[in-house]
Formats: sequence, structure tokens, C-alpha cells
Amino acid sequence: MTDSPSAPPLLDIIHSATEPIITIDEHQRIVMFNPAAEAVFLRQADQTIGASLDILIPVRFRSVHAQHVSRFKDTGMSDRKMGLGAPLWGLRSNGEEFPMEASISQTRTETGVFLSIFLRDITERQRIDQALRASRDELTRLSNALLHVREQEKKHIVRELHDDLGQSLTALTMELAQLESNLRPDDASARDRVRAMRRVIKSTFASLRRIASDLRPVMLDDLGLAAAVEWLVANFVSRYGIDTDAEIRVGPTEPSKRVATTLFRVVQEALTNIAKHAQATKVQVRLACDETQCTLTVQDNGVGAAAESLTKKLPMSLGLQGIRERIRLLNGEVTINTRNRGGFRLDAQMPAQHPESPWEAS
Ligand SMILES: Nc1ncnc2c1ncn2[C@@H]1O[C@H](COP(=O)(O)OP(=O)(O)O)[C@@H](O)[C@H]1O
Ligand SMILES: [Mg+2]
Repeated sequence: MTDSPSAPPLLDIIHSATEPIITIDEHQRIVMFNPAAEAVFLRQADQTIGASLDILIPVRFRSVHAQHVSRFKDTGMSDRKMGLGAPLWGLRSNGEEFPMEASISQTRTETGVFLSIFLRDITERQRIDQALRASRDELTRLSNALLHVREQEKKHIVRELHDDLGQSLTALTMELAQLESNLRPDDASARDRVRAMRRVIKSTFASLRRIASDLRPVMLDDLGLAAAVEWLVANFVSRYGIDTDAEIRVGPTEPSKRVATTLFRVVQEALTNIAKHAQATKVQVRLACDETQCTLTVQDNGVGAAAESLTKKLPMSLGLQGIRERIRLLNGEVTINTRNRGGFRLDAQMPAQHPESPWEAS
């Protein structure tokens, strides 16, 4: 290769390169070692030139590496990535090993074949990759734990509502009956008061039951997923009067508890969204679980949402994000199809069985 008159000499370019470049001859002796290579390998060029390439490679890789390089030379190819994507290892003069990426190219001249190795120290990149992976794992564990804590908390509140407030209301009803039996038969106004109080207690009971089952229907734990989702749908229809067609097939095996809770929460959020945002007149809920897979579709014919407005809202709105997160934790997938005036459709699928973490067994 010749340099054109206006270009800087090739050696200058190699010397000022920020990436290490090493050239070896056909006996794998180092003939060129640029300053970037000096910095990475902690060696002076004048003491390295003439030495075997081996001194830059950890002992256990030397023979394999030498074979690869010589095979490459025999192919006559002009250049190639080394290591096929897996990191190669370099050896600094202080004995420290470091991961690197390298490519190799060969030049034939009348004085022989020269191989140039262009490499990059990827220690820092690997460290960042590892830190990133560790923090993603940590986040997944945290999300899992948070979801679990929320479900446990809801169970706990439901129990308190039932045991504590429920008991008090029952006691009040009995007190009231006692009071009524002691009233004079002709005391009409007092009897009216008692009747009014009984109505208040009755509606408080109804509110209590509604709040408790919104939190977590006992059905989900006692009667299983199909019954719980049917209850959700029936409740949705009676509250909002929207024509809803539900097709629910679960069995013969129940999905694992985490999967059931997730599907229940997803249907709950999707129906709440329809009531809140859709102005729909028709809703379809399809849920099918066999031994291996659960699929869910919740679809409405309402106003839908424009893609831009959805992306704008997403970082702030927790409902759809929560759905995505819950399903991701179970190795499932969600897709949302919607457009302005085009209805809203949510499709989800996930494996039906998921190993429970030890703290979920209870
Ligand atoms: N069924 C639906 N029909 C129309 N728009 C919907 C529907 N479901 C969700 N959206 C849109 O997606 C946005 C995000 O939903 P979500 O994450 O549940 O948040 P939130 O319900 O708290 O607003 C909603 O604000 C709404 O604009
Ligand atoms: Mg919502």
C-alpha cells in the first residue's frame, strides 16, 4: 500500500490510534506495537518488538491461539473477527488478565506475510454489563416482593374487615333486636328508629362485603380462577350495565396461584379501565387456561386511545404498566391494540404454571 501525497503516513495514523494495534510477522513475532497497545499491555514498544506474541496472551490460551493465527494466515483471507464473539483474554506485564475484542487482518508484501491485530480492552464494558444485569435481577426481585406484599396486605385487610368490623356489625344487630323487644308495642316512633338503624347496618354490611371482595375475593382462593373472573364480570355488568360477553375455560388443572392472581388482577384493571375511559357498549372477555398455557383477551368497542396519547400517559399511569410488569414477571406477553375511536383490545398469554417462591406458599 502506498500513501497518497496528501494523506499522513500510515505509521503516524497507527501511532495516534486510540485502539491498540499490534503487527506480527509469519513467525508470530511482534514487529509493531503502537502507544495504545503500550498503555493496555503496560509494556514499552522497544522492549516488546521482536518478542513472541505469546507474551501478550495468558499461558493457558497460548497454543490454541497460535494455531488459530497460523490457520488464519493459511486461509489467505484479508480480515476477520477473532474469538467468534466470545471475549478473548489478554495479559498485561503485571500478570493481570483482561477481556478483549479483536479482529485480525493480513497483508502480503515481498518481505513476507504480516498480520495486524486490532483490539479493544472491554474490561469496563463487561463490568457495566454485569452491573446492569445485577441491577435488573434486583429490580425483578423487588417487583416480585412488592406484588407479593400487596397481595398479602390485601388478604390481611379483608380478614380484618370481616373479623373485626363484621363482628361489630353483627353485635350491633343483636343489640338492636334486644332493644326492639324491650320497646313498648305502642311506641311507633322508637320502632321506626330501630328499623332505620337496621337499614343502615344492612347497607354497611353490603359496603363491607363489596370493599372486601374488591380487595381480594375469597373466591379466588377458595373456588378458583374461573369463578373469581365470572364474579368480576357479573359485578362489572351489575355496576355499569354494559353488555358483556364472557367465555371462561379453565381446567382440568388450575393455574398456579401466582398466575391466577395475575390474571384476576389484569381482568380487574382492564374492566375498570373500560368503565373509566372507554364509553363502550359492548365488552368481550375470553379466558382459557389448559395445563401449560393461559390466554386472555379483554376487548371493548369504545372510544379507544390514540397511540401518541397512550405513550404520553404510560410513564405516569400505573394500571397498564402494572399489567405489563406482572405478566413479564411470569414470562408472559401482553399486546395492546387500540386507536382513536377504534376500541381497545388487550391480549395476554403466559405459562399456566409458575414455581411459587418459598414466601408465596402460604
Ligand atoms: N379500554 C380503554 N379504552 C380507552 N382508553 C383506555 C382504555 N384502557 C386504557 N385506556 C387509556 O390508557 C391510559 C392508561 O391506562 P392506565 O394505565 O390503566 O391508567 P389510568 O386508568 O390510571 O388512567 C388511560 O388513561 C386511557 O387513556
Ligand atoms: Mg387504569
